[in-house]
Amino acid sequence: MKVLVTEKIDGRGIELMRKRGLQVDEKLNLERNELLDIIGNYDALIVRSATKVDRELLDSAAKMKVVGRAGNGMDNIDVKYAVEKKIECINAPDSNSIAAAEHTIALLLAVCRNLPKGDSTLRDGLWERNRLMGVELYDKTVGIVGLGRIGKMVAARLQAFGMRTVAYDPFIPELDMARLNVKKVDTIDELMKICDFITVHMPKTKDTLGLIGEEELKLAKKDLRIVNCARGGLVDENALYKALVEGRIAGAGLDVFVDEPCTGNPLLTLDNVVATPHLGASTKEAQVKAGIMTAEKIAAILLGEEEMTGTR
Ligand code: NAD
Ligand code: MLT
Repeated sequence: MKVLVTEKIDGRGIELMRKRGLQVDEKLNLERNELLDIIGNYDALIVRSATKVDRELLDSAAKMKVVGRAGNGMDNIDVKYAVEKKIECINAPDSNSIAAAEHTIALLLAVCRNLPKGDSTLRDGLWERNRLMGVELYDKTVGIVGLGRIGKMVAARLQAFGMRTVAYDPFIPELDMARLNVKKVDTIDELMKICDFITVHMPKTKDTLGLIGEEELKLAKKDLRIVNCARGGLVDENALYKALVEGRIAGAGLDVFVDEPCTGNPLLTLDNVVATPHLGASTKEAQVKAGIMTAEKIAAILLGEEEMTGTR
């Protein structure tokens, strides 16, 4: 049985699959046409977020039994089509939640305290204490959009900063939120009006793309700082750019973008944006967990130890 790995995963995962008798080929940075040429030789494929596992690729994968995403979510995989073709789709959803929650806090603090600007101006020989005035998290209201695994971790961490936590998540009952000391708000508009900070933690779906757009940003406080460490486009990029340039909101921390990799995004030209290149899951700990979890699931499916269920 042959497994193709197209993006870097932790070596322990590779070793685990080889010990179980699988042939594992790591071919990183393949051109799309090279991938299409060789995919037919493989029984399994492991990707992270860059490889697009679409219809064309799945149609070229004649022997494919399972596609694994060594991370959280499967939005770069056409899961519906894969399942139609009897290809199992798996991911490692719990592997990187802590990493993503901690990165969210890092971005929030970096935006509040001008960390990148402070560092770069100091290195350029400037001592700009007066210009780089920050704001505190303490006694402010943070709105969490999507109170799932990561949203809950972010809430707990921000409560430790003395923040009031409110959330918009139509699928989580008020009582469950209350148990976490989070106040439920029923509409995104209400959340936009009352928050000093907003952070989004939803999956990317047709309902969540652009959930915070032009109209919603018009409702925001002038001091709003917003973080997106979930998926590019949940906060509409054009609307966000406009709101930041026009000074209608105060800042943004962004780890994810509509088109990735991206270096020419206009948001990256703004002083009140702190950005990272999709680093939310990039901790040693998360990558070990993601590599091992994905490898275990792939091996179990290929070796017939687990039944095919479609997705897991
Ligand atoms: P999760 O499935 O545990 O939680 C998502 C929450 O969003 C759920 O509670 C769900 O009810 C809620 N939700 C769904 N639709 C909604 C809507 N229309 N409005 C409001 N809430 C809605 O997911 P998670 O593990 O917490 O991950 C959250 C996001 O973070 C995902 O997009 C994931 O892909 C992303 N992520 C990014 C990185 C990174 O590297 N930046 C790493 C890990 C995860
Ligand atoms: C994510 O969910 O954003 C990914 O798991 C990131 C990654 O590729 O590690």
